[in-house]
Amino acid sequence: MDGHQYLYRRNPDVLLEWGEGGGPVLVDCRRWRKFSAKPALVGLLHQLDRPQTADELHGRWGGADHADEVHKILERLAAAGIVHRSAPDGDGRADGGGETENGPGGDGWTPYELAVHAQAGRGPVPHARRGTPPPARFHHPEAGDAIALPDGDDVPSRPLARVLAERRSVRAFAPAPVPLPLIGAFLDRTARVRGHFPPRAYEQTQRPAPSGGGRHSLEVYLLAREVAGLAPGAYHYDPFQHTLHRLCPWTDGLAALQQRTVTDLALMDSPPPAGLYLASCTGRTSWKYEGMALSLIYRDTGCLMQTMSLAATDLGLASCLVGMMETPLTAPFLAPYRDRLIHVGSMALGLPTDPLAAPAVEPLGG
Ligand SMILES: Cc1cc2nc3c(=O)[nH]c(=O)nc-3n(C[C@H](O)[C@H](O)[C@H](O)COP(=O)(O)O)c2cc1C
Repeated sequence: MDGHQYLYRRNPDVLLEWGEGGGPVLVDCRRWRKFSAKPALVGLLHQLDRPQTADELHGRWGGADHADEVHKILERLAAAGIVHRSAPDGDGRADGGGETENGPGGDGWTPYELAVHAQAGRGPVPHARRGTPPPARFHHPEAGDAIALPDGDDVPSRPLARVLAERRSVRAFAPAPVPLPLIGAFLDRTARVRGHFPPRAYEQTQRPAPSGGGRHSLEVYLLAREVAGLAPGAYHYDPFQHTLHRLCPWTDGLAALQQRTVTDLALMDSPPPAGLYLASCTGRTSWKYEGMALSLIYRDTGCLMQTMSLAATDLGLASCLVGMMETPLTAPFLAPYRDRLIHVGSMALGLPTDPLAAPAVEPLGG
C-alpha cells in the first residue's frame, strides 16, 4: 500500500511538559518515555487531533515543503510511538497504540493516571530523604479544649473471623447519639500511636493499621454531630495523647461539609450522627518516598479504612466508607492547612438500626 494512505493521529497518552532548559518534552505516559522536541513538532502534533494522511496534514501544517517530508516525519514519530498509524480501510486499530473498542488508550486510563502509576513503579526520586523528616505529630495550636478519651480496654471484642463475616457497609443509623466510650475504643483500636521505630529522628511510628515506611501521614478528624458527651463540632484526634482537640463548634458549614462528603455520596436519607474526615499530611510520606508518595498515601488510606470498618463492626457501630476526595479540601477547620493536607476519604459512623439496615445480598448459586 502507498504509505501516503496511512492515517496518523497523536497518541492520546502523550503529554507535553517543559524540560530543564525550558524546551518542550513529549512524555509517553504509558511507556514512560520522554523525548525532547522542537517547537515545530509540537505544532505538528497539535494538528494531529484526528486521524489524517500525510497529504492532509501537509495542507494544514506549514512546517515542511513537501508531503514526502511530512510522511517521513510521521513515520519516525509512529516508530517512536508518539503518533499512532492505521490503515484507512483497516479495522480501526492503530499500530502500537494499544487501542481497543474503549477508544484512545484502550483501557480507560487517562495519561495523568498512567503517569502517576508509571512514576510510582520507579520508586522514590534520587533526592528523596533530604533534610529533616517532618514530625509524625500534627499540631493544631488554634484548638480549644482537649478531651481525654477512654481507652476502650473494657469494651468487649469478638473473634476476628466473626467480625470479618459480619462487616457490612451501612447507610442508615439509629436516631441516637453515639456513646463517647465507643468513639474512644474505635480510635484506640484503629489509629492510636503505640510507639516509635528507631531511630527516633526518622519520625516513624507504629499504629494499628500498616503504613508504607511507617510514615503514617493520615490525620483523623471527627465530625461529631451527635456524640453523647461531646459538644457538637469538629475535632482533631491526637493519636499520641489519645485525645480529641476541638477545632470548631457545629455550624451550617460543617453540616454542608458532612452532606457533600458523606450523606449525598452514600445516598443516605439523613446525615450520620458522626463522621470521619481523613486527611493526609503528605510531606511525611513524600520526605522519604517523593515520586511514589501519592500511591503510598492512597494505599495507606485503604489500610486505615479497612482497619476502621472492621473495628466499627467489632464495636457494634454501623459505618460506611466514602472514597470521594475533595480537591482542594474545603473543610472549614482546615483552612490554614490547605497547602499541607489533602483529603483522602471519609467514613460515616453511628449506631445501627434494629434490624441492621444493610443492602440484601443474594447467596452464590450452586
Ligand atoms: C474506597 C471505598 C470507597 C467507597 N465509596 C463509597 C461511596 O462513595 N458511597 C457509598 O455508598 N459507598 C461507598 N463505599 C462502600 C461500598 O459501596 C461497599 O463497600 C460495597 O458496596 C460493598 O458492600 P459491603 O461493604 O457491605 O460489603 C466505598 C468503599 C470503599 C472501600
